[in-house]
Amino acid sequence: MAKLSSLLLWITYAAVASAVSITDIQGIAWQSPFVGQTVSNLTGIVTAKGSSGFYLVGEKTDDIRASNGLFVFSSSTTVLNKVAVGNLISLTAKVQEFRSSTAPNDLTGTELASPTNIVVLSTNNTITPVILGKDRSPPTQLFSALDVGPDGFLSVPNNSSQIDTVNAPLQPDLYGMDFWASLEGQLVTIPKPVGTAFPNSFGEIWVYGDWETTGKNSRGGLTMTFGPDGIPDGNPETVIIGAPLDGTKNPATAVGTGFSDITGVVLFQFGFYYVLPTTAPTVISVPDPVIPPSSIVPDLSDACSITFGDYNVENLSPNVAHLPTVATHIASFLNMPDLMFVQEIQDNNGATDNGVVDANVTLTTLVNAIAKVSNITYQFTSINPVDDQDGGEPGGNIRTAYLYRPDRLKLFPGSPVGGSLDAVNATATPSRKPHLNFNPGRIDPTSDFWNVSRKPLVAHWETPSGQDFFTINVHLESKGGSSSTQGNARPPVNLPVEKRTGQVATVADFVKSLLDLNPSANIVMAGDFNEFVETRSVLAPIVPFLQDIDDVAGIPVVERYTYVFDQNSEQLDHVFVSSAIASRGVEFEHVHVNNWSPKLSVRASDHDPSVGKVHIC
Ligand SMILES: *[C@@H]1O[C@H](CO)[C@@H](O)[C@H](O)[C@H]1NC(C)=O
Ligand SMILES: *[C@@H]1O[C@H](CO)[C@@H](O)[C@H](O)[C@H]1NC(C)=O
Ligand SMILES: *[C@@H]1O[C@H](CO)[C@@H](O)[C@H](O)[C@H]1NC(C)=O
Ligand SMILES: *[C@@H]1O[C@H](CO)[C@@H](O)[C@H](O)[C@H]1NC(C)=O
Ligand SMILES: *[C@@H]1O[C@H](CO)[C@@H](O)[C@H](O)[C@H]1NC(C)=O
Ligand SMILES: *[C@@H]1O[C@H](CO)[C@@H](O)[C@H](O)[C@H]1NC(C)=O
Ligand SMILES: *[C@@H]1O[C@H](CO)[C@@H](O)[C@H](O)[C@H]1NC(C)=O
Ligand SMILES: *[C@@H]1O[C@H](CO)[C@@H](O)[C@H](O)[C@H]1NC(C)=O
Repeated sequence: MAKLSSLLLWITYAAVASAVSITDIQGIAWQSPFVGQTVSNLTGIVTAKGSSGFYLVGEKTDDIRASNGLFVFSSSTTVLNKVAVGNLISLTAKVQEFRSSTAPNDLTGTELASPTNIVVLSTNNTITPVILGKDRSPPTQLFSALDVGPDGFLSVPNNSSQIDTVNAPLQPDLYGMDFWASLEGQLVTIPKPVGTAFPNSFGEIWVYGDWETTGKNSRGGLTMTFGPDGIPDGNPETVIIGAPLDGTKNPATAVGTGFSDITGVVLFQFGFYYVLPTTAPTVISVPDPVIPPSSIVPDLSDACSITFGDYNVENLSPNVAHLPTVATHIASFLNMPDLMFVQEIQDNNGATDNGVVDANVTLTTLVNAIAKVSNITYQFTSINPVDDQDGGEPGGNIRTAYLYRPDRLKLFPGSPVGGSLDAVNATATPSRKPHLNFNPGRIDPTSDFWNVSRKPLVAHWETPSGQDFFTINVHLESKGGSSSTQGNARPPVNLPVEKRTGQVATVADFVKSLLDLNPSANIVMAGDFNEFVETRSVLAPIVPFLQDIDDVAGIPVVERYTYVFDQNSEQLDHVFVSSAIASRGVEFEHVHVNNWSPKLSVRASDHDPSVGKVHIC
């Protein structure tokens, strides 16, 4: 039966091949029903031309799933010289599905190859781009129907199916990838584009246009959030602007940059749906270059209040150019918190891989740079990793560390500093203050979950008036090697999601052991989690024990971000507090000293710091 119907289908196509239209070739799904066939006397108007081919528009149908645009691949100057924008042409060519890279995550794009018999039927025809936001508008929450699971595109298992293989009919009203696929090869206009990120290393820029968006933050970026149905919202209403077809260069951009309208063609390449502009847009507005400091300041007259900062300082070693800027951020934007949680402190000779693991020169250099601009000298504590065993930049031996103001805090006395492989644990004392065997100490350093990864650093602190609290400084394994939000694998591959989940579980076990000894223990866990709260499966182990300080402080959800990646402003850095701290009320802010930079090159780190104030009595 199947054989008979495909035979009939083939006969039908063969018979009508001369009357094939662009919408027939595009079809209503991802793969062309004509793939591998040669179509003759196909007609269309040339909408755009680049160095590797040109784009056609054909008759529209009522079915928005079938694009009426199509790319004709040819870098032959004979072919390219034959056609001009506005020409109505007929041609014969082969339909193919092209993958821009061999990466398994790239979708194929439908295109025509080896064009022949090009006949110009008329010239100077009017070309009308699809005006996005007016003629068609992208969905704002979901990427793909294949993102099954409670966490939407962040669900596990990941890569449970692939778009190209399932090849389902498009649902452009519901899913962002389907929307952009339904415009494949079309000339579109993006009115009033706004940048959502810095350019990538190829000068490509992410934008949204004058249409409905979700997650818009005060800077003009789009923050990853939850949709009204509780499923994560990854902002598929954004699109990346690739290299202009006329060889001009896109301008530099930052979050919130406004551009002149962009007209260009839609195609899939390198993991995303792109618009390739016919020419580069110009910058028409830039956001306020003045970045305000935090309004949270230490209260030196209040023995119960502790201010803290949390900052991934990106591969900090003694001689890096961004060290003085990090010092200024801590002094002038975070207002000299009593305690700093820092991540990515490298050893004394940075990425040189020669067995050096000490970071005392790195930390002293940072502390001195801060003292130079504040007259306050922090003390520091950290534990060296075993050489080359904690991941990060090869040879750098990154680790987490604390800086603390000696007038405000000291390490709770009575415990030695732990070694690289010593596991911290807590035991009961008559005072109900749990006692740490090591202070500071590392959580479960020999666990497989922490193999080739930075171990969490636990510390027990005491104030001059005898109050105490515990902190955990984390830097979970990075998402390196994960697949793009708009790739073939659905849900996208999130590496190594099982390991990060296990890492959170080992920290949760430790937190539980403290709370078992004293349910009203003061605990602050902060750092770079390399994961979003929207990936609920990863953070689930800690949820029974600690509360997200963004929730406790009531930070608007769209302002919860510390990182900008591809289309999204997103939160990788988090702070969690115990109920004793949450119940007394908190202050908290994300300070966008880096992700509000006017240029990528002036950022001190890829992460923004955060600052908070908690009450420990
Ligand atoms: C294609 O068009 C040419 C003239 O342009 C015509 O001679 C030929 O018969 C047409 N072929 C089909 C299959 O319609
Ligand atoms: C997703 O899984 C498929 C099938 O196992 C595999 O071929 C593909 O390489 C995977 N994709 C990624 C990005 O790992
Ligand atoms: C196309 O139209 C423009 C004016 O709109 C005219 O200057 C030009 O000569 C026309 N070109 C052709 C090939 O007809
Ligand atoms: C994620 O996808 C990768 C690649 O297909 C696979 O190796 C891994 O097991 C998946 N992990 C989960 C938790 O689904
Ligand atoms: C770093 O530690 C080494 C070894 O303990 C010591 O000799 C050196 O003086 C220290 N340097 C600084 C800047 O603290
Ligand atoms: C640091 O102290 C010096 C000498 O007292 C003073 O001149 C300078 O203004 C102080 N700087 C800051 C940032 O407080
Ligand atoms: C805590 O660690 C010490 C070693 O520092 C060990 O002797 C003790 O048994 C551990 N306690 C628990 C409850 O694991
Ligand atoms: C730790 O990671 C390394 C490098 O990825 C690997 O070779 C080793 O087998 C891992 N060890 C464990 C215990 O998982």
